[in-house]
Amino acid sequence: MKKITIAIDGFSSTGKSTVAKQLAKALGYVYVDSGAMYRAVTLYAMQHQIISKDSFDVDRLISELDSVKVSFTCNEQLGFAEVYLNGTNVENEIRTLEVSQNVSQVAEVSKVRRMLVNQQQQMGKEKGVVMDGRDIGTVVFPDAELKFFMTASAETRAKRRYKELLERKEEVSYEAVLINVESRDLIDSTREDSPLMKADNAIEIDNSNLSLKAQFETLYDIAQKVINPY
Ligand code: DC
Repeated sequence: MKKITIAIDGFSSTGKSTVAKQLAKALGYVYVDSGAMYRAVTLYAMQHQIISKDSFDVDRLISELDSVKVSFTCNEQLGFAEVYLNGTNVENEIRTLEVSQNVSQVAEVSKVRRMLVNQQQQMGKEKGVVMDGRDIGTVVFPDAELKFFMTASAETRAKRRYKELLERKEEVSYEAVLINVESRDLIDSTREDSPLMKADNAIEIDNSNLSLKAQFETLYDIAQKVINPY
């Protein structure tokens, strides 16, 4: 059967990864969480005191990029790939609010983007991939056969993220999460290099009032029509 590339872009916490994972599983495709890669580089920068709340040594990060290896290994039990930083599984550590508060600054650095975009293009070169992020349909795979752009109100997204962080036993306030969601939206969509934007041919899905099931079914039906048009 024909294999295609599916790009899912959108603002932070729009539930892209949940639906992307389900879609990849249903189609037998590989799922790649490109945000996890930016988060892993951010974690490296935090662990090496390159970035903190009030300082960011961009030149040092660039000079150390050769020693930052981001990779994915499938967790057979969970059925999807987890992210590794220099050989260590960092899947949980990259999801903290602290990483979220630093990641948009790291993702603004062009050299970081070039390194990760190259890697993402390699991972998708055989097609049969669902990749989610901010620039997948515009920069990483501009020729993707199917592109989605997910949106939801900032409040809906902050509530979802807040619930997720509480489930991970992080002590956070809803207000701090909302501020983070809004400030990441702003940085991600106004940065100079590959800003978050809807590709001209992307299908926009506002999932503020869609259940996970309805969301999955919408994307799956559209994907089936593109894969098997007759
Ligand atoms: O999808 P996420 O929230 O895990 O992504 C974390 C950050 O990484 C996001 O705020 C912006 C950045 N990012 C990006 O710039 N380009 C991508 N393709 C994916 C994520």
